[in-house]
Amino acid sequence: MKVQLEKIKQEFQKGLNEVSDVLMLEEFEKRFFSRRSGEMTEAMKNLKDLSGDARKEMGRLANEIKNELLEMLDQKRVDFNRGDSALLVKTEAIDVTQPKLPKQIGGHLHPMTIVHNELEDLFTSMGFMVLDGPELESTYYSFETLNIPATHPARENMDTFYIKDHSDWCMRPHTSPVQVRAMQKYGAPLRAVVSGRCFRNEATDASHDHTFYQMEGLVVDREISIANLIGTMKELLSGVLRRDVEVRLRPGYFPFVEPGFELDMKCLVCSGIGCGACKHSGWVETLPCGLVHPKVIEAGGLDPNEWTGFAFGLGSMRLAMQKYGIEDIRHLHAGDLRFLNQF
Ligand code: PHE
Repeated sequence: MKVQLEKIKQEFQKGLNEVSDVLMLEEFEKRFFSRRSGEMTEAMKNLKDLSGDARKEMGRLANEIKNELLEMLDQKRVDFNRGDSALLVKTEAIDVTQPKLPKQIGGHLHPMTIVHNELEDLFTSMGFMVLDGPELESTYYSFETLNIPATHPARENMDTFYIKDHSDWCMRPHTSPVQVRAMQKYGAPLRAVVSGRCFRNEATDASHDHTFYQMEGLVVDREISIANLIGTMKELLSGVLRRDVEVRLRPGYFPFVEPGFELDMKCLVCSGIGCGACKHSGWVETLPCGLVHPKVIEAGGLDPNEWTGFAFGLGSMRLAMQKYGIEDIRHLHAGDLRFLNQF
């Protein structure tokens, strides 16, 4: 009898390990405890054939083992219900009443990517192409085609990184070289935006970095006017910032536009009081723009008597700073997760 009970216990333990779902567990329980033919039930029935002390002793042992096995069954059931077991049967695991868990995503887009994606969506909805251009650019496209000859003083405030032993190649100081590349490639009429990284020989501070992002815009068509330019700029700012912004237009000088403007926006970080993001002036230079200079149209292979255009060069990092209330441009490159995880 004792041997029989030990054997049942052993088999039970072995078998329980192989039980992988609730349905199997039910079957398993029946095998040992079913009233009619359960192995344990049968063993207990045999007790009546024993007599006296032996019956008492075996009765105690049988009960002990029975309780042990029942406890193991219970534990297994609890594990299944908690979903602890990797062996959970799929049909049983789905609780259709459970609220949907938020998706756990390992990463997310950088704020600059978000801003550029939004800008590109906005401009494609207005019929613009989204173009790309090289970061390592010739001085010909970076300056010459943009009406900035070698001796022109405008080269100084667009000083950038030159390639050793190849002084006619530089890291582009702006996205404007793509204006001419686009005209040469696609002709007119043309609507295009180009977002990308630019570089300058810059002492960094809260609003300047040596590496930064711009979004260039170019429209070439017949009879383009300043009204077209201003209308598009307003659409751009309200589209991205999703609120009314106060703007002001000042004359600005860029050799590749005529007339040229600086469109400033009232600082949204400090509401115009003055802070690091707006160089304590309350206004942020956001959008240099103007009507494309005839010489640039010509460099693009088009007839300036027939074609006119406007262009703008949005400092998209500054726009991101305004959109999210970031007070220092350098956060955007620092790679600090405490900053980035906020987006
Ligand atoms: N490329 C100019 C800059 O980086 C900005 C600009 C672009 C101005 C287009 C006018 C038109 O400063």
